Amino acid sequence: MPACNLFQPLQLGLFTLRNRIALPPLTRSRSSQPGNIPNDLMATYYRQRASAGFMVTEGTQIEPRGQGYAWTPGIHTQAQVEGWRKVTDAVHAEGGVIFCQLWHVGRVSHTSLQPDRQPPVAPSAIRATAVKVFVETGPDSGMLADPSEPVALTTAQVGELVELYRLAAINAKSAGFDGVELHCANGYLINQFISEHSNQRTDQYGGSLDNRLRFLREVCEAVIGVFGAERVGVRFAPLFETTDEERVYLGLVERDPHATYVQACALLESLKVGYLSIAEADWDNSPDLPQTFRQALREVYSGVIMYSGRYTQAKAREVLASGWGDLFGFGRAFIANPDLPHRLRQGLALNPVDAASLYGGGPHGYIDYPASKA
Ligand SMILES: Cc1cc2nc3c(=O)[nH]c(=O)nc-3n(C[C@H](O)[C@H](O)[C@H](O)COP(=O)(O)O)c2cc1C
Repeated sequence: MPACNLFQPLQLGLFTLRNRIALPPLTRSRSSQPGNIPNDLMATYYRQRASAGFMVTEGTQIEPRGQGYAWTPGIHTQAQVEGWRKVTDAVHAEGGVIFCQLWHVGRVSHTSLQPDRQPPVAPSAIRATAVKVFVETGPDSGMLADPSEPVALTTAQVGELVELYRLAAINAKSAGFDGVELHCANGYLINQFISEHSNQRTDQYGGSLDNRLRFLREVCEAVIGVFGAERVGVRFAPLFETTDEERVYLGLVERDPHATYVQACALLESLKVGYLSIAEADWDNSPDLPQTFRQALREVYSGVIMYSGRYTQAKAREVLASGWGDLFGFGRAFIANPDLPHRLRQGLALNPVDAASLYGGGPHGYIDYPASKA
């Protein structure tokens, strides 16, 4: 019998989540510089939102080459691990559960963000188009730029990257995270391997879908070795159709997205990954995910399924009642409403989000959204 309201607890491995409202990964670009270090401000932000049943951090680079936007935090130095410890302590003090989103942007980067101004790395030397990166131009200023031409990773370097994911998971564990989520969505590195557009490799990581899923499998196995499968999640952003031509060039729309992602999720099932997170298209008038796809995911994958992308309480309840989803990410609504679960439960009005303060800056638009007095 599927649950029918967002306030029924949910079992995720060893964790009993107190509701089905999640804080999805949200890049806010407020780490301390230099060093991309999580700080007290970030600890306050996450603590304020710890009434979520489940929380995932903003995308967090696993190594210096994994960065595509200025001021995003990392998890590859001791100072970053110590910074994240403030966040996990703050969330745990409120009874929250928080996973770290492990991020590598691959080709979606710029030489100015790369060590020694080298080109970014990617499965193949194919430049990302129709997407921007964000580079620093001064201490508090930056600008959008086109990604640089990447170099293709050698087969040996792919193996080294798997190891970097493992080390990042070890760091996440020592920073006190409850688990990790692999960012395999939105055209970043793992997605670049899966995609037939951005992966033109001729070694065991390219060609057939099985080969294009090999990097995902190896990275999953590496981080499962650190946390155990129940404490690992994977995020995909399958796109089915788009009227927005630009998104096709991102390499996000596969010729057969259904077959691609159903097979990818069957792989997660075989690895016993704890949850699957699906980021749905979230721009205005974006197409809905086909019901046949939701149903197919439920058939191949038996873990927790989280959906995000323009969810309202009503839409989340509908998907919950259908039995196809368990947990729901509320992105922009959670940014603007630190007490979102309370507001949803009481049917209170929601603060609107301020788009201008989403990325970068200080406390404004970050920790100063008011909680409801009701
Ligand atoms: C400011 C902002 C930053 C985001 N950063 C990330 C990120 O770091 N990793 C990720 O997987 N998705 C990211 N997303 C996507 C969100 O997790 C979520 O899927 C999206 O906001 C749709 O949910 P919403 O319509 O409830 O906002 C971001 C979205 C926004 C608005």
